[in-house]
Amino acid sequence: MHTTIMPALSSSSSSSSSSSSSSSSSICIFLLVFLLVVRASHCAAKATSSTRPPRQLSVDYYARKCPQLEQLVGSVTSQQFREAPVSGPATIRLFFHDCFVEGCDASILISTNPGSKELAEKDAEDNKDLRVEGFQTISKAKDLVERKCPGIVSCADILAIAARDYVHLAGGPYYQVKKGRWDGKISMASRVPYNIPRANFTIDQLLKLFNSKGLTLEDLVVLSGAHTFGFAHCKQFVSRLYNYRGTKQPDPGMDPRLQKALTMSCPQFGGNSDIIAPFDVTTPFLFDHAYYGNLEAKLGLLASDQALFSDPRTKPLVLQLGQDKKRFFQAFSIAMEKMGSIGVKRGRRHGETRRVCSMHT
Ligand code: HEM
Repeated sequence: MHTTIMPALSSSSSSSSSSSSSSSSSICIFLLVFLLVVRASHCAAKATSSTRPPRQLSVDYYARKCPQLEQLVGSVTSQQFREAPVSGPATIRLFFHDCFVEGCDASILISTNPGSKELAEKDAEDNKDLRVEGFQTISKAKDLVERKCPGIVSCADILAIAARDYVHLAGGPYYQVKKGRWDGKISMASRVPYNIPRANFTIDQLLKLFNSKGLTLEDLVVLSGAHTFGFAHCKQFVSRLYNYRGTKQPDPGMDPRLQKALTMSCPQFGGNSDIIAPFDVTTPFLFDHAYYGNLEAKLGLLASDQALFSDPRTKPLVLQLGQDKKRFFQAFSIAMEKMGSIGVKRGRRHGETRRVCSMHT
């Protein structure tokens, strides 16, 4: 990965916004916009919705057959995190895209069969920007687990454990991961659209989608907190910079200093499609609650992020979480468990335990 980091803007003036803590007023906002040029990873993911009640998962599912599972996965995630910290956000997003399409069954990891007419989930347009580091993490962890506990542990459970590990490694909460997911047998690109939210979704659209997965308004606000780290490509927010909703003006919901900084690297037309900007301009590599303070200060990157602050249904929770890191961490742990239970499969009819995560057994 070719990476160029440049601080693009800093400011000490106050930002417009309401009352609370981290935002604006007297405090000097360290508006650090890193702009990175990366090679876009050509990886991708999957499709479906499921509102069926989750099958029974348990923390000690592998206690007898692979008691050292979490240490094995942990040895891979900690090394990956040291060598390539982007593996953290990459894997958490991978888990999210897995769970929202066909349920949490590692169907996102399947490669398109060369002879097949139907593309696999990972090759769907909405999954094109999933970073390779997430896939690499799971593949390495699976190799190690297969050497110690052959044929026992599903790729879906390894993905859930790795996502938790990275949340924690980046400074976020540690929570127990319930296990017992089987790997899915279906991975179809055609099931991805309408199951993965887009950056320009309204709160109504986001709620509809999250509700269809059994997730609530609170889950939406809390899980969006994962955008406290990681990056997005210019195309995901460029319309906010130049032509917000056809007005030919920037989005008034974005701090003008952030808007200016982003325009320097994201031109309206013909820019480098590999350029990315951090979600969290204050602490881009930390899993903390700064995301919510940023929304209050109009520093949200995507329209869907900033919408959480402008909508009266979600704003109160944004304000609360921005002031209470402990509450965010607790809520995030619970919401990840909930998300990790979407459409879980059990049994040979619907599931398998893959030896190699990218290929059906
Ligand atoms: C609420 C609706 C959501 C929308 C509209 C959304 C959209 C996006 C978009 C457009 C990107 C940037 C992709 C790119 O340009 O490479 C992104 C990145 C990311 N998303 Fe979301 N997302 C949502 C919810 C979530 C959830 C629920 C999670 C996890 C719990 C999540 C975790 C991430 C992470 C960690 C990244 C950074 C990935 C990286 O740096 O490699 N997102 N998301």
